[in-house]
Amino acid sequence: ERGNYRHFMQKEIHEQPLVVAQTLQSYLKPLAGEVALPIPDFDFSGVKRVQIVACGTSYYAGMVASYWLEQFARIPVEIDFASEFRYREPVLEDGGLALFISQSGETADTLAALRHARAEGQKIAAVVNVPTSSMAREADLLLPTHAGTEIGVASTKAFTCQLAVLAALAANLARVRGKLSAEAEREIVSHLAEAPAAMNAALNHDEAVQAIAPLVAKARDVLYLGRGPDFAMALEGALKLKEISYIHAEGYAAGEMKHGPIALIDEHVPVIVLAPSGPYFEKTVSNMQEVMARGGKVILISDAAGVAAAGDGCLATLELPVVHPLIAPLVYAIPIQLLAYHVAVLKGTDVDQPRNLAKSVTVE
Ligand code: M6R
Repeated sequence: ERGNYRHFMQKEIHEQPLVVAQTLQSYLKPLAGEVALPIPDFDFSGVKRVQIVACGTSYYAGMVASYWLEQFARIPVEIDFASEFRYREPVLEDGGLALFISQSGETADTLAALRHARAEGQKIAAVVNVPTSSMAREADLLLPTHAGTEIGVASTKAFTCQLAVLAALAANLARVRGKLSAEAEREIVSHLAEAPAAMNAALNHDEAVQAIAPLVAKARDVLYLGRGPDFAMALEGALKLKEISYIHAEGYAAGEMKHGPIALIDEHVPVIVLAPSGPYFEKTVSNMQEVMARGGKVILISDAAGVAAAGDGCLATLELPVVHPLIAPLVYAIPIQLLAYHVAVLKGTDVDQPRNLAKSVTVE
């Protein structure tokens, strides 16, 4: 059932426009210009903060969502790794919303955290891909992703579907809290509806990514930089590369470079910069230039305007379609997945079943 694809991961990367569209279908009412949750009358009243809990790639989806929830819904958000959450004795006020994100719905730490949050009086929302899973059953507000079965251990299509659902949740919460005009909601809906086509356009750059892969495959260490939601994407890019190519990679908030990690920079460490046009572009580019001034070899992932403004002197550039900042994480996920994939193929690792890893981590 891999069809013409060499690996499940490759197939799942390419399925994304379709499954994200499928997922969005149950969260958007494009004609009305509204978002809609599966439980339309879910009671968010009294929710004064959101606690997000997840592991791995699902955690990074939560991190992207934390920016959206604060920006649109103006609600305070905290986010924890599930394995840390219970043990730090978090202060959870009655009636708070605890949001769990999991492809499998069975990750042991996340499930235990969900039960802990329930015992602490939280309303439980869960973004889950496997509809029959424990988390799907135990949530008060189940927000399903419709990615279909994900077989590759590296999560790809589940991640972008999580982002789609989380964007809809943020818009919904913003409306309920009176922070979103009908006009602003209509705009969010139209941007989200454009995501599958933009992701498709990003997939058309597969060969360009493949051409960059050898530059990364020969490295021992790789850095990913971004700001705002693209900081979370930098972490996700580094995780993808680590887990399937076994190359050491780190994601960093671009502005943190000069507080230490810039000491690592030399011509042997490729630095992948995620910088879509938008509110963070100029600051990210100035951090990128600090890297280049120290001999760093930069691979810039941006759009035409971004590459024209900042591409000079880069080792390589990748030009994605121009997209609204809201959907940039869904689109920029594609080249970072493809890059990890092509690097792993060059290295000859077991792409779908990387060493030491399991698809579902059911021990704490
Ligand atoms: O099933 P879950 O989403 O709860 O899994 C969480 C992590 O184990 C998972 O995202 C892991 O980090 C992936 N292998 C990343 O590609």
